[in-house]
Amino acid sequence: MIDRFADLGTRLIGRYVRWHESLPSTNDLAVQLTEVSAPEGTVILADEQTAGRGRRGRSWTSPRGGIWLSVILRPELPLERVPLLGLGAGVATARAIRELTGLPARVKWPNDVLVDGGKIAGILAEATAGAEWVVVGVGINANIALAALPVIEGYPATSLQALLGHPVDREGLIRAVLRELDRAYAELKSGGTGPTLRRWRETTDTLGRSVRVEMPDGAIEGTALDLDEAGALLVRLDGGEIRRVVAGDLRLREPGR
Ligand code: BTN
Repeated sequence: MIDRFADLGTRLIGRYVRWHESLPSTNDLAVQLTEVSAPEGTVILADEQTAGRGRRGRSWTSPRGGIWLSVILRPELPLERVPLLGLGAGVATARAIRELTGLPARVKWPNDVLVDGGKIAGILAEATAGAEWVVVGVGINANIALAALPVIEGYPATSLQALLGHPVDREGLIRAVLRELDRAYAELKSGGTGPTLRRWRETTDTLGRSVRVEMPDGAIEGTALDLDEAGALLVRLDGGEIRRVVAGDLRLREPGR
């Protein structure tokens, strides 16, 4: 444990912080710690991950210079609200990036963080059976050279350093992320789904756009209309039918996006 974050001023998140030089995955360690009932709000940080994980079973490149962290939560939320933790974490990350760098970070459903069409951050929220514990993993490509990032079709990975032309204050950004996560979590627990959904809508550029969503059982194309109460995306198919999408990879269909 380190007391470098003693002055963070959060209610819950970051009360205990473990900062490792290298880990396979901060989410893996956080999940293991839930098994020994680590206190809620514990944060695991690593300077590098050797087996970082992304959504949908993908790997997540995590060299030094990035921000790789996981938060242990015990949300006591109805199961159907758990996806909202991931949406809220995406918004919190985008807000922290905006606050610290001034870059126009926005969320793409469900919780990717993009700047000018490049992916700057991702969220991996994982619940234990019954959602008693939820681990929220946040990865931010902060001070990383573009050459060290993977080439991804559709949404190229980019870094804050590449966009700004100089490195960012990594610890300052970690603090901003933890404060925003703390606020978002408190809001979801006390305020119901409304404030979380409203902030997500304010921070996204997905809604109203022509989209293609790849899902395990196929792809759909149409217009992204809105989120429902559980954070699922409502898409009006080109034929008019409205589909509810719980999980998938979304791309904007307009050229150049
Ligand atoms: C995605 O966009 O696919 C989600 C990426 C999530 C990466 C973070 S980095 C910290 C935490 N530990 C992991 O292994 N993954 C998440």
